[in-house]
Amino acid sequence: MSEAESSIEELKRRLYNLEHENTELKEKLQQVERDRTEYLQNVSHQLVAPLNAIKWHIENLTEARIGVDRARKVLRSVYSQATLLVHLAKNFNLMSNLEADHALSKLKEPLQEIKLCQLLVNLADDFQPLAWDREINIVVEKDGFEKCQTIYAMKPLISQVFSNIIENAVKYSHDGSKIIIKGEYLQSSDSVAVTVKNRGISIDPSHLDRIFERGFRSPEAKAKYPAGTGFGLYIAKRITEIHEGNIVAKTCDGWTIFNVTLSVKGLKGKARLRV
Ligand SMILES: Nc1ncnc2c1ncn2[C@@H]1O[C@H](COP(=O)(O)OP(=O)(O)OP(=O)(O)O)[C@@H](O)[C@H]1O
Ligand SMILES: [Mg+2]
Repeated sequence: MSEAESSIEELKRRLYNLEHENTELKEKLQQVERDRTEYLQNVSHQLVAPLNAIKWHIENLTEARIGVDRARKVLRSVYSQATLLVHLAKNFNLMSNLEADHALSKLKEPLQEIKLCQLLVNLADDFQPLAWDREINIVVEKDGFEKCQTIYAMKPLISQVFSNIIENAVKYSHDGSKIIIKGEYLQSSDSVAVTVKNRGISIDPSHLDRIFERGFRSPEAKAKYPAGTGFGLYIAKRITEIHEGNIVAKTCDGWTIFNVTLSVKGLKGKARLRV
């Protein structure tokens, strides 16, 4: 083969490789577009449900002969749905920050002293009206927090970690069941372990790690609540890791248990937050 011929062969080979790479990139781009469309459809579906519920409740309130008790009940439902909307909007905002690396700095909230027990009581109060609709009772056992009153962390983010776990507990619990939230101070590591447990749809042992993956939803969860992005626990894990903490799920005697461990001093004293 002459020199010119082998150069042509080499060029043909490169062209073939480039065409192949180009096809692969096009396929990847199409997949990203499909994921994006699916995500947006999911987001709008999740927002539309509580908004429709609020509209429906308001329509109820405008009925001429509505009694005070009934009006109170309807307003409580409006409150639950509004709580859900705020919860979802915060997740979508965090999600876009977590996905766009250049925007990670937006997550760097100032460190604050957080009264963990109070934060959990407030969240339980927020979600309780939603839980009442299905006769689910959320109980915060305050005793365990006595040895550890405060932690240092980014409050809105830590709040969203527990908001995601508690909202799941309400969503996936059996009607008429109980959700228990408790804390324990761990002296050896100067940290606090918060446990949220509920009884409801089960998590297959092979899924206990996968539930923290971005977008993962179990078939049982999809059957009970078709709408959902599968981002809640992924966000919770990322935020916990940013705080150098730990989050695990387990099941025991019909309970689904989430354990979040956070250092009391957290990131205090660290010059730069690691993200
Ligand atoms: N308390 C729970 N009981 C049973 N399964 C749970 C519980 N919490 C989470 N899961 C499982 O973990 C999966 C991931 O949870 P995650 O919060 O990330 O997503 P989601 O709840 O499905 O959707 P989203 O939070 O976007 O509405 C759920 O789909 C469900 O399979
Ligand atoms: Mg969830």
